[in-house]
Amino acid sequence: MCGIVAAIGSRKVAPLLLQGLQRLEYRGYDSAGLATVAPGQLHCCKAEGKLVNLREKLEKTPVAGCCGIGHTRWATHGKPDARNAHPQLDEAGQVAVVQNGIIENHRPLRQHLEQRGSRFNSDTDTEVIPHLVAQALANLPDTVPPTDRLRVAVAQAVQQLEGAYALAVIWLGQPEELVVVRYHAPLLIGLGEGEFFCASDTPALADVASSIVSLEDGEMARLTPLGVELFDGSGQRIQRTPQPLRGGNYTADKRQFRHFMLKEIHEQADVAAGWVERCLAAPIDEGLTTALQNVQRVQLLACGTSRHAALVGAHLLEQLAGVPSSVHYASEFRYAPPPLLPQTLTIGVTQSGETADTLAALTIEMERRRALEPNSPPRLLGITNRPDSSLGRLVPHILDLKAGVETGVAATKTFLGQMLAFYAIALHMASQHQSASAQVTACRQALAQLPEQLSRMLHAMDQCCADLAHGFAETKDVIYLGRGINYPIALEGALKLKEISYIHAEGYPAGEMKHGPIALLDQHVPVVSIATPGPVFEKVLSNAQEAKARDARLIGIGPVCADTEIFDVLLPIPSVPELVSPLLTVVPMQLLAYHVAAHRGLDVDQPRNLAKSVTVE
Ligand code: AGP
Repeated sequence: MCGIVAAIGSRKVAPLLLQGLQRLEYRGYDSAGLATVAPGQLHCCKAEGKLVNLREKLEKTPVAGCCGIGHTRWATHGKPDARNAHPQLDEAGQVAVVQNGIIENHRPLRQHLEQRGSRFNSDTDTEVIPHLVAQALANLPDTVPPTDRLRVAVAQAVQQLEGAYALAVIWLGQPEELVVVRYHAPLLIGLGEGEFFCASDTPALADVASSIVSLEDGEMARLTPLGVELFDGSGQRIQRTPQPLRGGNYTADKRQFRHFMLKEIHEQADVAAGWVERCLAAPIDEGLTTALQNVQRVQLLACGTSRHAALVGAHLLEQLAGVPSSVHYASEFRYAPPPLLPQTLTIGVTQSGETADTLAALTIEMERRRALEPNSPPRLLGITNRPDSSLGRLVPHILDLKAGVETGVAATKTFLGQMLAFYAIALHMASQHQSASAQVTACRQALAQLPEQLSRMLHAMDQCCADLAHGFAETKDVIYLGRGINYPIALEGALKLKEISYIHAEGYPAGEMKHGPIALLDQHVPVVSIATPGPVFEKVLSNAQEAKARDARLIGIGPVCADTEIFDVLLPIPSVPELVSPLLTVVPMQLLAYHVAAHRGLDVDQPRNLAKSVTVE
């Protein structure tokens, strides 16, 4: 993970770097740092914890220079402290490096460098890079001109690296330049007015750059106050036309809410209204219609919450549209993809569009498809909230969630948006296949009511969940049960609780309880059971009864009816067709997790050990 920024121009660079880092803090927030270079001086400032700590440090001890690099970290190698924060420097303090990714062969490189006398100050994989660059600089022949020396030395250093990385380097010997490299980790160049930038993601470039150039794997760029030069992996100059930086609203505001997450939960009625107007009432866009034509099967690749949305999606595709569908953990798919079958649509689901495992799985699939069907373009679709992300550049078709900026690390409104995207796709494919017409009509009618229902429910449910959360003060484990299309919602409820409250929680298909997990139950383990009328309603209620018989406290999520009286507490949802119910049952799950975490006084928006986008394998 981690976010990197770099800037060069004629303005003092530290405030620009801090502004960029602020917009990248979603990528990691356990420590941060920056380094600037000016003639005769290289300054480095690092702080443990969030960016605010670095900002405070810099206010006390400002750093000079119009060229610099910055980093916000999500620790992979070495504890999250100031020593392991980036930038990492060589021994003489002349070369500074920020890196996003993982250097897989850092151990042998470090050993080799240590044998040759280098001394290391951190536990990071990154620290080998400034050492390698310094060593290369020292060994360069005098014939290499000063303006090429840093670029050539960085090129020699990265030749020795294995892994995936994006990095930016500055050097005291050439204070008016910085060199950046990309290899299987995102990196963009931003072009401004007489100043040039690079960053892991576009929000950090908004307000300072008017156009962007994206680097491809293995490419390198040299940035000076005069402009940007691009080089391919063999050191040849290349040209690329910059693309205008599409304006996006990257500023986030909590409004009257205590946390971003709570605000984003409440924004779900608007997300639903957008989808109902844009895709569910009107036909899906033309490019996408072509991608969905003659599809015989669908495979879905995703991680975490996005995978839960994909599970809902697969259920809809099979039950509404009659299209066989499979869901894969992207991290598993990339090493064990299933046998290739023709006329398969592959959908990558990722709110950030930057999840390394999902991007890698999609890349593998694209290559396999090209080899199998060289004459037809691979059928790949991305569902994301960030069409300007790496995913947007990778796949030919994107379905944009248009959910607005999601700042909370725990995905909420993007999850609802992802599910709605699948309703749009499944309904479209159902009309192509002319399948399940009564269900399709019922589904369409129910979806039209959704924004209004969500809006009313969100207001009514908030206080119920806040009150319920008081009973979770001592809770150590929670079990979530659901069946059919609501099984993924049970998984999502458990994930939300784990992520932000640090309470152990597991989601199970309700029918599985008696095959083992029931052994966990006693009066200390609450059970949250989704019970919506449908073919297995009675069975779900029986499963809940079985839990109650083991003294578990039963919290139900479902419509108010005589059958749901068995629950100790019922979080009521409107009565809707079962196929549409996940769009409502997810709300109490999110609110309960939120209030439990808020009640415990935890950092809801930036929970420990997590980041909004997981850009490492
Ligand atoms: C969601 O609350 C989590 N933070 C996490 O599971 C997330 O869904 C996962 O990392 C995938 O992210 P993506 O949607 O950006 O690919």
